[in-house]
Amino acid sequence: MKIEVEYLQFMWPMRHFLITCGEIEGKLNIITVSFCMPVSKDPPLIACAIGKEAYSCKLIESTKEFIVNVPPKELKQEIYYCGFHSGYQIDKFKETGLTPQAARKVKSPIIAECIAHMECKVKQEIETGDKKLFIGEVVEAYADEDITKDERKVEYAKGDFPQKIYSIRF
Ligand SMILES: Cc1cc2nc3c(=O)[nH]c(=O)nc-3n(C[C@H](O)[C@H](O)[C@H](O)COP(=O)(O)O)c2cc1C
Repeated sequence: MKIEVEYLQFMWPMRHFLITCGEIEGKLNIITVSFCMPVSKDPPLIACAIGKEAYSCKLIESTKEFIVNVPPKELKQEIYYCGFHSGYQIDKFKETGLTPQAARKVKSPIIAECIAHMECKVKQEIETGDKKLFIGEVVEAYADEDITKDERKVEYAKGDFPQKIYSIRF
């Protein structure tokens, strides 16, 4: 017998990314995002679904740029913090102590403590439901040297984040 289920529970595990947006000398923000995936290799495209009410959505709509930063597992607390607080009220760089650092090709900053960074320029915006899908072309991608040498492994989400909290809050 098959039973009705909530579809999202079968989409896990997902990676957690810290997306930076805004401009390094203006308004800046960090948002935790799991609805983020590659959608083309050539050209290299990443799709990120961001809540229409999120401060990050407004910033990306205005600058047409964002950066997908890959956090190491040690940043678990910061991942939660940026996923439970809004940049409308607070400066997440200040509150988390994460360091904004100039990117290579876009005006948003990278997060220095993250291990890899994909700088993206928005090519397409698609209204979905409660989210807006930003399709970004990866114009630069780089990572810590020790990661590329395989000395430190990128931590993959194993579905151990609180899925219940996730589905209630987002
Ligand atoms: C683990 C985790 C994953 C999340 N994934 C997403 C996501 O994919 N898309 C989204 O819009 N919000 C997601 N959120 C929620 C946002 O991070 C949250 O609403 C945030 O406060 C919005 O911040 P902002 O208003 O500063 O942009 C996630 C939160 C957590 C904790």
